Amino acid sequence: MNCELKNSLRPLTGEGRKLFIETYGCQMNVGDTEIVVSILQQEGYRYTEQIAEADVILINTCSIRDNAEQRIWGRLSEMRRFRKAKPSLIIGIIGCMAERLKERLTEGRDAVDVVAGPDAYRDLPRLLREAEAGGHGVNTLLSTEETYAEIAPVRLDKNGVSAFIAIMRGCNNYCSYCVVPYTRGIERSRDPETIVREARELFANGYKEVTLLGQNVNSYRFGEVNFPELMRRVAAINPALRVRFATSHPKDISDELLEVMASHENICRTIHLPAQSGSSAMLKRMNRKYTREWYLERVAAIRRYMPDCAITTDLIAGFSGETEEEHRETLSLMREVGYEFAYMFKYSERPGTFASKHLPDDISEELKTARLQEIIELQNELSMESNRRDIGKEFSILVEGTSKRRKDQLFGRNSQNKVVVFDAADGVKVGDYVRVRVSDCTPATLLGKRIE
Ligand code: 5AD
Ligand code: SF4
Repeated sequence: MNCELKNSLRPLTGEGRKLFIETYGCQMNVGDTEIVVSILQQEGYRYTEQIAEADVILINTCSIRDNAEQRIWGRLSEMRRFRKAKPSLIIGIIGCMAERLKERLTEGRDAVDVVAGPDAYRDLPRLLREAEAGGHGVNTLLSTEETYAEIAPVRLDKNGVSAFIAIMRGCNNYCSYCVVPYTRGIERSRDPETIVREARELFANGYKEVTLLGQNVNSYRFGEVNFPELMRRVAAINPALRVRFATSHPKDISDELLEVMASHENICRTIHLPAQSGSSAMLKRMNRKYTREWYLERVAAIRRYMPDCAITTDLIAGFSGETEEEHRETLSLMREVGYEFAYMFKYSERPGTFASKHLPDDISEELKTARLQEIIELQNELSMESNRRDIGKEFSILVEGTSKRRKDQLFGRNSQNKVVVFDAADGVKVGDYVRVRVSDCTPATLLGKRIE
């Protein structure tokens, strides 16, 4: 019997078996989980949201900071308890922690049945077969080519309005504090035709917003197609399809991209531009490859092209050698830019990174906490100021759902990605665009009234 025939007669590994996946970390991981579900459904597994009925539990993990990993270890020991009640249960760790801690996860008391790195998901059916036969299924090979380009993700979040599309994988930037280049491998871009097709299909299925995702979307390149060109193509699908993207590395955000954004109303007016620090000396230690002045010039360029564009950021408090003066420079950068929103973190040393080998983690936990607190308090003020400036303005809102607090209110987002809450009205439903005038705000939300 030839091999192909044998394969077609082989019962699907997953036939009737139920798969539960828990996802930690970034949007990239959320997208990867949707690819994993797609691959395993092909193999006959059925996805379940009920952990109690699962035959296979996978945890899609994050290694970006130590506290992310600690949470996952805690969760893993809870899951082992499930296995006491159901000895046939298979438990797998996939994603960044699988890549980073393969030895620990395959031997001794922390061992799990399946370990699969971010580029090994097509191999999961085989890995699960090995585990079911009583062995360990392990694959943590990183690839230079894998983009899962043609795999249609199974959309797990139910809003049906907004979806993420991974356009590239990996990262080549090697910021000195960051583990991502080691866990997700080198940067590679996905064929633009598969991206445009995926976006088109989403729109045909009622989606109204896509977010193109990569660690550094500005360095997207596939043949002749660079990121601005990809944005042009996705934005051309339909004016009623909003297009967003994340994340932009400040060293690479080009005028060409800003021009494309400014000339398409359906490309949203928001740019996530992680600064990490406001001090040029610190940025050098972080290997970010730009200075404070460069960053501020790029912010000025964004404002020149799109005066109404929101700018959001990531900031790290207490990286190696951070002086009081350098910390003050981060605060002054925040004020100068006036960020709409920020993700703010305490530095967490990651084994294997350049910093872990050459730059001491020498800021005390107390000082990191105090500096982070200052950053958070300032950001709260800036977010509130930004929201206050919106009072009286009109926005087009894409309706996403019913407000959690009040059933008679709906919420959606404006182009700047701010959440806007307004009174529900007959005929307005999820997925509609409505015009709303802002009448009030909290630090996190705009409150508005619909304009008929
Ligand atoms: N410690 C703290 N924050 C980190 N980030 C990345 N690595 C670390 C680390 N070791 C933050 C950066 C990045 C975001 C995704 O996570 O701000 O932009
Ligand atoms: Fe990490 Fe820097 Fe790559 Fe972002 S750009 S994933 S911070 S190495």
